[in-house]
Amino acid sequence: MADLPLLSPVVAGLWRLDQWELTPEERARWIHRALELGLTTLDLAEIYGGYSCHARVGEALRADPGLRDRLRIVTKFGIEVPKDTRPGVRVHHYDTSAGRLRASVEDALRELGTDRLDLLLVHRWDPLVDAAELAEACAAEQAAGRVLHFGVSNFAPSTMRLMHATLPGGLATNQVEMHPLHLAAFEDGTTDLAQELDLPLMAWSPLAGGRLFQAEDAQALRVRTALEEVAGRHGAEVDQVAFAFLLRHPARVHPITGTGNLERLARQAAAVDLQLDREDWFTLWTASKGEPLP
Ligand SMILES: NC(=O)c1ccc[n+]([C@@H]2O[C@H](COP(=O)([O-])OP(=O)(O)OC[C@H]3O[C@@H](n4cnc5c(N)ncnc54)[C@H](OP(=O)(O)O)[C@@H]3O)[C@@H](O)[C@H]2O)c1
Repeated sequence: MADLPLLSPVVAGLWRLDQWELTPEERARWIHRALELGLTTLDLAEIYGGYSCHARVGEALRADPGLRDRLRIVTKFGIEVPKDTRPGVRVHHYDTSAGRLRASVEDALRELGTDRLDLLLVHRWDPLVDAAELAEACAAEQAAGRVLHFGVSNFAPSTMRLMHATLPGGLATNQVEMHPLHLAAFEDGTTDLAQELDLPLMAWSPLAGGRLFQAEDAQALRVRTALEEVAGRHGAEVDQVAFAFLLRHPARVHPITGTGNLERLARQAAAVDLQLDREDWFTLWTASKGEPLP
């Protein structure tokens, strides 16, 4: 446990866990396999699976009591969507208040059946965030040993900087959308700021949620052709090249795989050994942009 990194090079994302139709024992075996492949960090969120994700993972952890200590658990809070099981919520909104943080941590710990969250992210930037109040609430959770580290998700560089300066221990990460069809984080200052602050990024939907394989728009067709070309040169698969595109970046980008398929999981985990050179990388960049470099 002491040697486990907070973020494994590739992270296992469990957004779609409720769609995989696995029993708790099968979920535990799935997590075991992810661990064997080096994916020691799980990415969860309170809202995933209609607020069922923590309970589903908790069932797996209870089915295999040794599992928890071999894992790092990342989860997120702050998105409030009306639902039968959440009768107090009338309107879809964000809530980063101290009370919400405390309640979300309590729910997560109870549902997961654990005494600590390794990393808790603010899921989305909340225009009503009171940074001082949030920082105080985070410090209380950290002092109680219930949350070990804090981070954010989908934050622009300006709010990422504010949170880094405010939250206890600074930010451990910003989790943002990054894949060859979506280059915003490379261009809006996110990767620059990550290097300046020396904090790693987590990349969600590294395969564009599957669109990389299915979409038929001009950008997707160009990118797919480029991925196939680079993959062919390296004797690799297209999904591995998409992961290697992120892993190649000096800002220390950790792709979060969303596959439920163990064969694909193994292949994507192996992308850490695929080294793209600058020309491979810019082949993908240029294909995404659809125009030559200036
Ligand atoms: N912070 C945020 O706001 C945020 C937002 C979205 C996601 N996330 C995190 O990021 C994780 C990953 O997101 P994602 O699920 O969108 O990731 P993704 O890896 O881009 O997409 C996964 C989807 O692509 C499909 N897929 C994978 N390989 C494929 C292949 N070779 N051919 C065809 N389809 C393929 C998967 O189906 P199979 O299962 O059948 O392989 C799955 O439906 C989530 O689990 C979550 O933890 C965070």
